[in-house]
Amino acid sequence: MMKDLFDRFYENKGPVGKWAEQAEGYFVFPKLEGPISNRMFFMGKEVITWSVNDYLGLANHPEVRKVDAEAAAQYGSAYPMGARMMSGHTDLHEQLERELAKFVNKESAYLLNFGYQGILSTVDTLVGKDDVIVYDVDAHACIVDGVRLHLGKRFTYKHNDIVSLEKNLQRAQRVAEQTGGGILVISEGVFGMRGEQGKLKEVAALKSKYNFRFLVDDAHGFGTLGKNGAGAGVEQGVQDEIDVYFATFAKSMASTGAFIAADKEIIDYLRYNMRSQMFAKSLQMQLVKGALKRLDMLRNRPELKAKLWENVNALQNGLKKNGFDIGNTQSCVTPVYLKGSIPEAMALVKDLRENHSIFCSIVVYPVIPKGLILLRLIPTATHSLEDVNETLEAFGNIREKLENGTYRRISGELMAAVK
Ligand SMILES: Cc1ncc(COP(=O)(O)O)c(C=O)c1O
Repeated sequence: MMKDLFDRFYENKGPVGKWAEQAEGYFVFPKLEGPISNRMFFMGKEVITWSVNDYLGLANHPEVRKVDAEAAAQYGSAYPMGARMMSGHTDLHEQLERELAKFVNKESAYLLNFGYQGILSTVDTLVGKDDVIVYDVDAHACIVDGVRLHLGKRFTYKHNDIVSLEKNLQRAQRVAEQTGGGILVISEGVFGMRGEQGKLKEVAALKSKYNFRFLVDDAHGFGTLGKNGAGAGVEQGVQDEIDVYFATFAKSMASTGAFIAADKEIIDYLRYNMRSQMFAKSLQMQLVKGALKRLDMLRNRPELKAKLWENVNALQNGLKKNGFDIGNTQSCVTPVYLKGSIPEAMALVKDLRENHSIFCSIVVYPVIPKGLILLRLIPTATHSLEDVNETLEAFGNIREKLENGTYRRISGELMAAVK
């Protein structure tokens, strides 16, 4: 029997949605208020904020804010109107593209309105039905969605596992030999959930054995890794082996927008064929001017990246010294793995927020295996060593309560009371 399309929304709200009643406004869709900084306000209370990707502290930097305000006054939020190809093209868009390309050591670059739909559309444009995609199984949702548009074959390889990659390259090669297509390999520069760098060097080394092109999503590496923050490819000395480099403005650049960079012929092809840019309004001028300023800060203010890493090292070394499991992070992303159920995780996070004034993101099953709690901390250049020390102390306290069953006991009451 036929159903109403919406019936299933009432029957099953989804893996996160099913917690909505207990979690909405607190664990999900929380409202962080006040200027973006190391300390913000949550439900009227000041908290040390470890959950925004403003790595270099540009979000609220006075010079950046000034340029943003002037650009808004000069251009408003409409200019330019239309898609780049039709009526939304300007000198400043081209200038930003030239500067970004130079910064990441590529011939050419192209602006994208958003990271998510931009890379999705990049994947879509790079492959045709005869081509084969081989991608890391832990790839970000935007890559997965790009792959979903692909009409040909795709294979995943185990996360950062070069043996598995090679096995899948062999499968891909067999398919491509039959279809007459090519192969696209996709990794991230930094995996944003657990902080591991993609094994770009090892992937690139396989180019001597297999014929493939390499796309890297460096959302978290851009601005934080490599000389001046040119990213994970530069950090690992393989930027030239990355055929298409992607980064978003939503993290180190503290803005909105993104770009891809590659050889000129590749970018020219993408400019004329990428649906997300051909059929969408051009990036607003406010954001273009703001990005030019931010890029200037990346190039000329090395002290911001130095301060970021001072905080990263203090936090990660402190956590390790105190016996916390922070996995294999090789970036600013700082995961803390604890054992516990979802209700225990909720009680723990509430304790962190209410009694220790610490706000960090919490990740539970199904994103990570059942029985694990992942607290994800993002240090930035705006944090102080005092913030780090307060946080280390609080973490010592919550671990003790997790281990002695305090959270298990109160989690029942909490489930009813939270909201
Ligand atoms: C790895 C990765 N790629 C792409 C994106 C999407 O970028 P944007 O927020 O600019 O749409 C994100 C998240 O923001 C990300 O973490």
